Amino acid sequence: MSLLNINPTHTNSWKQLENHFSKMENNSIKEMFQNDEKRAEKFHIQWNDFLVDYSKNNINQETIDLLLNLADDVNLKDAISKYFAGDLINQTENRAVLHTALRAPENEVILVDGINVMPEVFEVKNKVKNFTNQIVSGERKGYTGKPFTDIVNIGIGGSDLGPAMVVEALQFYKNHLNVHFVSNVDGDHVNEIIKKLNPETTLFVIVSKTFTTQETLTNSETIRSWFLKSAKNEDVAKHFVAVSTNIQKVTEFGIDSNNIFPMWDWVGGRFSLWSAVGLSISLAVGFDNFDSLLKGANKMDEHFKTEAFDKNIPVVLALLSIWYNNFFGAESEALIPYTQYLQKLAPYLQQGIMESNGKSIGRDGKPVSYQTGTIIWGEPGTNSQHAFFQLIHQGTKLIPTDFIGYVKPLYGDNNHHDKLMSNFFAQTEALLNGKTPEQVKAEFDKQGVSSEKAEFLLPFKVFSGNKPTNTILIQKLTPESLGSLIALYEHKIFVQGVIWNIFSYDQWGVELGKQLANSILDEINSKKVNNHDNSTSFLLKHFLDSK
Ligand code: F6P
Repeated sequence: MSLLNINPTHTNSWKQLENHFSKMENNSIKEMFQNDEKRAEKFHIQWNDFLVDYSKNNINQETIDLLLNLADDVNLKDAISKYFAGDLINQTENRAVLHTALRAPENEVILVDGINVMPEVFEVKNKVKNFTNQIVSGERKGYTGKPFTDIVNIGIGGSDLGPAMVVEALQFYKNHLNVHFVSNVDGDHVNEIIKKLNPETTLFVIVSKTFTTQETLTNSETIRSWFLKSAKNEDVAKHFVAVSTNIQKVTEFGIDSNNIFPMWDWVGGRFSLWSAVGLSISLAVGFDNFDSLLKGANKMDEHFKTEAFDKNIPVVLALLSIWYNNFFGAESEALIPYTQYLQKLAPYLQQGIMESNGKSIGRDGKPVSYQTGTIIWGEPGTNSQHAFFQLIHQGTKLIPTDFIGYVKPLYGDNNHHDKLMSNFFAQTEALLNGKTPEQVKAEFDKQGVSSEKAEFLLPFKVFSGNKPTNTILIQKLTPESLGSLIALYEHKIFVQGVIWNIFSYDQWGVELGKQLANSILDEINSKKVNNHDNSTSFLLKHFLDSK
């Protein structure tokens, strides 16, 4: 069954939220804290080793109740059960959305077109496990009999971002294999990677759900040609494996059928790291760690599926995001992990969030009259504090921000970690409270600043505060907690798509540019510029003339 088609702005709760917003708009979060000593106790969720404090938001109990009513008015419960049951909720592509099946326990029964997909899921999982063990142990060797030292993941979008983010995030748990990622069709990218490789000891993992993606095929061909400068055609079978739904195309590329790891059209590219698309993760950290990542995601799935909405982390975070996006008119959200390991989390989630919910047509086929997908961006703290935090603190834009931090550092270096975490706590406190003119004046007095200078400087030194943040404090960065964290954001995406009444699991918006690029490539090859707008023709001529 498909998702219901309910315009959220026609619900009672939406109208009540609009009224409520007019009362809350200029509210001071700081005052709400002053009036309620137990605010954090009220507005937090403790789940497993996650503590999610959402009390530093411009909300009161009525806001939460109304947002929860909105979830009920669009029948979120019904949508969640359809999502997990494998219903065809990706209606524009006539597909189920079942990345959750990839991390479900083996004894679960999940039907697609009446067939239980779990045996197949576990068959591929076992293939990933055996292959990983053979490569990591050195049992499986390259064409000159040497064990593999380097792995190159060739893919783009969902076939690159997830594995690249997780391999980086789980660096601490890594084995001896060096894992590289080639994604961009920019030849300089692939050539920079090739420079570091020895063909005798490198394994290439081509990841492409469709096996038609220009970037991935071009990079794969370039790499194969480079490989064949030292090796023979029959050696390709030892060094190239592929992950795809398109077995025919993979075989045509020359990959041995034993080296194909299948995936399914019910797994969206941007949610596919849990499938064999995560092969490079498994190779980098070993299958057991990869499996723990999946287990962590499954725990979050269970939480999301079964927990009451007011204690349900993805639901609450999604509703808060809707509160700012649709009522306050916030244009973007920031995501600041206080760990260098998560430096690729924001770019990874940019695809997840923006490719999923960057839609303007509702499930009724008509343009929506309200804002949808949020813009997401971010960098790890404390680096980001020295880069763009100025704008979050004193700029004109409202930027709700998620802070993600860990209680324990991985190398046990508490000197560094306590400094890192003091910044983590200080930033959300500063964003909440700001600094009043009185506080600034008192500082000037203490420093003996002249009254003339103080008067001039005062407005620049005041922080208005009242900037909303969520704090996600996790015990430790492990494969399992990372799996839970990623799944949390996946489900947040889902909830928002349901409420906005859009189809989150297609991505038609990326097609037009691809089509045009193909015809422009023909023009570049033939050196003949066809009819374009004046600017595009002008630029193309300049490019061809100065080549
Ligand atoms: O950018 C569009 C897109 O289809 C993404 O959704 C996908 O992750 C990426 O291209 C790569 O696609 P494929 O895995 O089929 O090569």
